[in-house]
Amino acid sequence: MKFFLDTANVADIKRINALGLVDGVTTNPTLIAKEGRDFEQVIKEIAGIVDGPVSAEVISLDAEGMIEEAKNLAQWADNVVVKIPMTEEGLKATHELKKLGIKTNVTLVFSAAQGLLAAKAGATYISPFLGRLDDIGTDSLSLIYRLQTIMDNYDFDTEIIAASIRHMDHVIDVAEAGADIATIPSSLFPKLWSHPLTDAGIDLFLKDWEAFKQ
Ligand code: E4P
Repeated sequence: MKFFLDTANVADIKRINALGLVDGVTTNPTLIAKEGRDFEQVIKEIAGIVDGPVSAEVISLDAEGMIEEAKNLAQWADNVVVKIPMTEEGLKATHELKKLGIKTNVTLVFSAAQGLLAAKAGATYISPFLGRLDDIGTDSLSLIYRLQTIMDNYDFDTEIIAASIRHMDHVIDVAEAGADIATIPSSLFPKLWSHPLTDAGIDLFLKDWEAFKQ
């Protein structure tokens, strides 16, 4: 399973990338705005740190505008993947970008039908959003299972990025479901390696060692 970091914070990316656990990065306009820095500069910096794909999202709502933006974004670095919203115009753009050899991440996927169409249009990645489905009381995990089955049934090359991950159980649940990738907020990531009993165990070992030395 691959881990992407869902952040535009360069310091966080450097910290977690140093553990050898980061296979890529996803950003969106909200995450970029949060950093208060120049979009192009941030994406280029991240693309230089991480070997894997770095998603940068278009703002246009029409296919023509998305394609123009995508051509520009794809020039920022070899590992830039263009994030396209899951709309009719987005599907049109995805189809054209596939022909141009530009990789896409179709985002804001909330149903199996949307995921199937995006894969068929030629998306490199699709991003089903778990947390936002949970927010409206819908079973988000079943979407991952259904998409996985659909991708397997037809041998689509499209990879599933489980997105809008909010807690540790989401990560483990999508791992069990066989999602190719989980994109994890950098604030959540440290919780994956931490456990209070690990900390308590270290404290006890050190205490016992000190007592033995005296
Ligand atoms: C995915 O690519 C998105 O950037 C992200 O996962 C959205 O998460 P949110 O619903 O917590 O904003």
